[in-house]
Amino acid sequence: MVAPVDVIAPKVSAAIAEALGDAYRDADPVLRPSQYADVQVNAALALAKKAGAKPRDLAQQIVSHLDLSQECSSVEVSGPGFLNLTFREEWLSSLVGDLAADPRLGVPVEERQNIPIDYSAPNVAKEMHVGHLRTTIVGDCLARTLEHLGHHVVRQNHVGDWGTPFGMLVEHLLDVGEDSPEAHVVETDPNAFYQAARVKFDSDPDFATRSRARVVKLQAGDPETLRLWNRLYDLSKSYFNKVYAKLGVTLTDADLAGESTYNDMLPGICADLEDKGIATMDDGALVVFLPGFTGRDDRPVPLFIRKSDGGYGYGTTDVATVKHRIEELHADRILYVIGVTQSLHLEMVYETARRAGYLPEDVEVVHVRIGSVLGDDRKILKTRSGAPLRLMYLLDEAVDHARKYVDEARPELPEDVRADLARQVGIGAVKYADLSVAHDSDYVFDLDRMLALTGNTGPYLQYAAARIRSIFRGIEAAPDPAASPIMLTERAERELAMRLLEFGRTVAQVGAIYEPHRLCTYLFELAQSFSSFYENCPVLKADSEEVRASRLALCALTLQVMVTGLDLLGMEAPEQM
Ligand code: ARG
Repeated sequence: MVAPVDVIAPKVSAAIAEALGDAYRDADPVLRPSQYADVQVNAALALAKKAGAKPRDLAQQIVSHLDLSQECSSVEVSGPGFLNLTFREEWLSSLVGDLAADPRLGVPVEERQNIPIDYSAPNVAKEMHVGHLRTTIVGDCLARTLEHLGHHVVRQNHVGDWGTPFGMLVEHLLDVGEDSPEAHVVETDPNAFYQAARVKFDSDPDFATRSRARVVKLQAGDPETLRLWNRLYDLSKSYFNKVYAKLGVTLTDADLAGESTYNDMLPGICADLEDKGIATMDDGALVVFLPGFTGRDDRPVPLFIRKSDGGYGYGTTDVATVKHRIEELHADRILYVIGVTQSLHLEMVYETARRAGYLPEDVEVVHVRIGSVLGDDRKILKTRSGAPLRLMYLLDEAVDHARKYVDEARPELPEDVRADLARQVGIGAVKYADLSVAHDSDYVFDLDRMLALTGNTGPYLQYAAARIRSIFRGIEAAPDPAASPIMLTERAERELAMRLLEFGRTVAQVGAIYEPHRLCTYLFELAQSFSSFYENCPVLKADSEEVRASRLALCALTLQVMVTGLDLLGMEAPEQM
């Protein structure tokens, strides 16, 4: 499956090499969209200086080596040295015809790799915050996309389920009773449980002593303590799963691989790092110092491997994740979809794992850095009182907001249809807001903007899909895009066709550089191209039967690409809006 640039770019490159010599074989042909033609080639302008030629002369020379007679109806040197290429209609039509006949819509099947993706990672008996929301949404999109490209994705939900707070949490669970309403609050408002334990810990010395003793029992594997810990885990799982279900993300219990799963590996890793001289004792603690990793005052920053009380650090567990993902999951690439602020931590983890020989050179480890979600005050989104925002509340609010729009726009729809539509639009809007900005930049959580029907928003894209569906409601059945030849006589038709042909490369790019916002931009531009096509080219009232069938096929193909793209983003495409 090819897009026009896949054919044109190598031919232009070859012509450049013939005109200027082999040294220019890898020069970028600089293909750009054009107002005057289907594509503009700017290589002559880019290379003239280096080649010591006048751009216009160079452009002529390139053209003299370029045979695009199959693909182009005109190749023109214009202005200071641009090449304007206009594609032959038959050629473009045949490419679109191939696309329509391709069940993968041009998305390549890549050589299968094992790709563990670490994402979501909320903490047991604690609220999930907006940061967790974002890693969950971005991670899920990358998981879907890489899977669609043919890879074996292993979702790894690295939940925080171990460490000192669990002494206090288990003791609190005992105090309130395992089946009490106070225990069940973990399933709906985990923070209330956590705070209650915390208050007691800070104010009641006896409780604090019990909590410390409980940590020791937990680490020693005391069965009764583990049973209570498991109970807490189950209650938390129920909360996570409610959030995941509401969000419609692909995480299940089978993907849980929390900190505790690495416990058995930790003593061995400590001994190994010490043996290899990578970790050293410092003030009773086992630490790794790495050259180049220094803090504000230029002092080396240690990665804590084992604290002086014998407890293991967050870093040790993460070194274990690398080892496990290489040795047991046979990873070819590993993604960590984690907050920007943990960059230094992860760099140190990778470097430690590399030195220890756990991480081979040819395995790519990537930190997909997640930026912050901000409130109106441009600070991390919190409640007015400063408490962490309940994620459920936030999602419900998005759906409630969407419901208001739906009720206004479609009062005639039955109640259950409106409720479902509000859910699809509200959740879609939140997800799209997260995905459509670069994942490492911050953005302000603004429901009104996210839900707007115009501009680069989730609802705008969902509306574009619903609008195509509404065209098909006027005819007997949704057309099969491959059933009729697609003719591209109007400019808007050509533009739409060229856009559609870029889908495969866009998805591959998201899988290669982990930037979902590129797919968002693509779909947004596709929706815009469709809009201008629909304004300029009558479909059901087209002049002839052939043109009508061709345009319906173009509509159907656009719908398929839109729905597939939205699905990769994790968004639903409502039947009507
Ligand atoms: N549980 C951590 C938190 O809430 C995030 C863990 C991220 N994953 C990891 N492998 N370190 O901040």
